[in-house]
Amino acid sequence: MKESFLDDRKLPLVIEPNGNGKSKEELLAWMKANKQTFDKKFYESGAILFRGFDIDTPKDFESVALQTDPRLKNDYYGTSPRNIVKDTTYVYTASELPGYYPIMQHCEMSYVKQPPISLFFYCHVEPDYGGETPICNFRKVYADMNPKIREEFDRRGLITVRNYSAPGKSGKFNLFELKKWNEIFQTTDKAEVERQCKEQEIEFEWLNNDNLRLLHRTPAAIEHPLSKEKVWFNHLQVFNPVAAPIEYGYIHQYQHRAKTLFWNIFLKLMVGVKKITTAPIDQSMNVLFGDGKEIPDSYVQHVEDLIWKNLVIFPWRKNDVIAIDNFSTSHGRLPYEGKREILVCWSA
Ligand SMILES: [Fe+2]
Repeated sequence: MKESFLDDRKLPLVIEPNGNGKSKEELLAWMKANKQTFDKKFYESGAILFRGFDIDTPKDFESVALQTDPRLKNDYYGTSPRNIVKDTTYVYTASELPGYYPIMQHCEMSYVKQPPISLFFYCHVEPDYGGETPICNFRKVYADMNPKIREEFDRRGLITVRNYSAPGKSGKFNLFELKKWNEIFQTTDKAEVERQCKEQEIEFEWLNNDNLRLLHRTPAAIEHPLSKEKVWFNHLQVFNPVAAPIEYGYIHQYQHRAKTLFWNIFLKLMVGVKKITTAPIDQSMNVLFGDGKEIPDSYVQHVEDLIWKNLVIFPWRKNDVIAIDNFSTSHGRLPYEGKREILVCWSA
């Protein structure tokens, strides 16, 4: 197999067929034979992109993922709407969110007790326009951070806030609230929700009209389980409302379209109004310091600047598979137009 990098940031490591060996079986055999060095390179780099192989179906994708990490799971307490793909046990659509909706960089489910270990994405249908899945070295984001701000995040920790409305309310898509609580917990039984919260160590609070507030207390950074390097590991840049217009500002610089300019301005106005009319704890989603105080907007800007400085963006090619070490490397999604079918699975 041929190994290379896209650029000198060395993320991801790209593995391609060398000569004829491009079948899925040959790839799997090579991975098996080189398991130890493969694992070492995977954790060093943070992600591996398999490109140019005959990984033609979701089932093929699942077998490559299982060979990389046999601990695939299918519990999901995240925010994105997802659907299981037929004929597979562990493969889901990556996100059913509309194409204009960007997904900011995050380590998957960073706020839950046991986040996924490895993540896999598969390009079943190439996007017509945009729709890249950029990745970012979150070890680097932590290391590059202004030491004063980093120390404050380390000392104060974080609370991730998620507010969900009751089942059965208007099914209209809401930019800020992506699911109802029954969709997160797969039940309308409040006792069962409470049981799952206790099991997952999620603090919960029932509010008026059967609305539900979930709170996750976490550190801002964790130690990588193997290398022990510190990693920025939280959803600040996803859930803090201030991040959305900053993100769209960067997206507009990258995609330069009338639509991206519109969203950039619209989000600035909308988030400005929301900040005035809604308390931080009542925002649909938010990330606050561990003592419940708001994080200054300038800190959110700083984190976004570091992420975009370290962001690796590359276009999808059909049958690409990327394996991501969730404890060092984040992922997201850029807005897209037209067709796009990216599938996902994960281990825990
Ligand atoms: Fe994700």
